[in-house]
Amino acid sequence: MSENVVPAQQPAQTAPDTGTGAAANIGVVGLAVMGSNLARNLASREGNTVAVYNRSHERTDQLLAAHPEAGFVAAYDYAGFAAALQKPRTAIIMVQAGRATDAVIDALAAVFEPGDIIVDGGNALFTDTIRRERAIRATGINFVGAGISGGEEGALTGPSIMPGGSDESWVTLGPILRSIAAVAEGEPCVTHVGHDGAGHFVKMIHNGIEYADMQLIAEAYDLIRHGTGAGPAQIAEIFAEWNRGELESYLIEITAEVLRQVDARTGAPLVDVILDEAGSKGTGVWTVQNALGLGVPVSGIAEAVFARSLSSHPEQRQVAGDLPGPAQTLTVPDEAAFIEDVRLALYASKIVAYSQGFDAIRAGAMEYGWRIDLGAIAKIWRGGCIIRAQFLNRISDAYAAEPDMPVLLTAPYFVEAFTRAQSAWRRVVAAAAGSGIPAPAFSSSLSYYDGLRAERLPAALVQGQRDFFGAHTYRRRDMAGAFHTLWSGDRSEIEADGTH
Ligand code: 6PG
Repeated sequence: MSENVVPAQQPAQTAPDTGTGAAANIGVVGLAVMGSNLARNLASREGNTVAVYNRSHERTDQLLAAHPEAGFVAAYDYAGFAAALQKPRTAIIMVQAGRATDAVIDALAAVFEPGDIIVDGGNALFTDTIRRERAIRATGINFVGAGISGGEEGALTGPSIMPGGSDESWVTLGPILRSIAAVAEGEPCVTHVGHDGAGHFVKMIHNGIEYADMQLIAEAYDLIRHGTGAGPAQIAEIFAEWNRGELESYLIEITAEVLRQVDARTGAPLVDVILDEAGSKGTGVWTVQNALGLGVPVSGIAEAVFARSLSSHPEQRQVAGDLPGPAQTLTVPDEAAFIEDVRLALYASKIVAYSQGFDAIRAGAMEYGWRIDLGAIAKIWRGGCIIRAQFLNRISDAYAAEPDMPVLLTAPYFVEAFTRAQSAWRRVVAAAAGSGIPAPAFSSSLSYYDGLRAERLPAALVQGQRDFFGAHTYRRRDMAGAFHTLWSGDRSEIEADGTH
């Protein structure tokens, strides 16, 4: 055993020693809060002995001192870390996505051997994961990009985990990840999503849906705040009530907590003290960029990203404040009825956002050659992750009933929901528009829904315009082929190949 390895405290259950002195069956590199919590979660599961390494040794020592019960095997260099790990060595990198990830991969690749497994548990861009997996494949080392959702709390108590990577890596990794994942309906919230970057792609879409969900909730709050006399504390109770029904979800639950919070400094509701400029680490932007490239409309997610951007342009908002428009007040004759309308509009818009997200996963799988089981993704999102919600059971049911369903919205359960929510959804979007209250995710989701339903779309006119100025041709409803009108000539129509 390398002199740089501190042998594990004798935990209740020590991993079988393979005779090489290697005590640990899993290792974690990067011991910031997420990494430390994940290491603690791993160590708390029977059969796991966890090797830990951090560039700054103090953090390693702090973790061991704070959690002697975990039986960590501390390593103070990569050689020691490798020596501490049973083969096939398996290490999870929990460092800031980007160059730091590459540096750790290189360091591990130098001390790992063919068959070993390096897992990137950060929020890496899936194309980086594809590149990294391809680059390291020649060494025989398995590289796995794994989305890990649930924040610091989830890392400790049970996240939803979305690993990609090879089938070979999954043989070793599967049992370890199943031992730490959240459990929903008796099933661990982890599945082998698909090869190479599939896991990080699905995590990216998860984050995009998260943005949409958060924006829709924020719009619901804003409309109720404007349309009723309710303040944050009362609206918190409305959300708490909604969380006991079909909208039950982590984001609805924490929204009630945020709205209940009173600012200690001023005594005002905290939400009224927080600056209304939203930040973003960028995963929602990736979702929209990639969905655009895949030709998938993710209007709810895109409007959520745009809303964060708009909110973060105070210089424009400052000068636009005097633009003509209604006073952004909303008077409703029946507050209780309006609140129920908003709840139904939120539910309908949420279904649209999730449907669009799953469309993007399907399109990504086709583009990158992954075989992704959409029903399995819905299942592992039922627990542990930020978008965990009761209604993901309905999505997994829908895909179980019809795996190749062209669009989730047509699943019978959701058709029934849209039947119930229709009128309310339209009343709420109309009320927002009429009173000048921005509701971009609500209204874009309704327009997407109506676009899908429409028998004829004005895209026909767009095709005519494109043909007029760019001779881009168009197809006809009544016959096959591509056509062009001689707009600057006798306006006769020719076949795209020039024949009349
Ligand atoms: C999760 C979250 C997390 C997310 C951060 C930052 O699944 O645990 O999605 O990974 O990236 O909360 O999110 P922002 O992009 O909003 O900064």
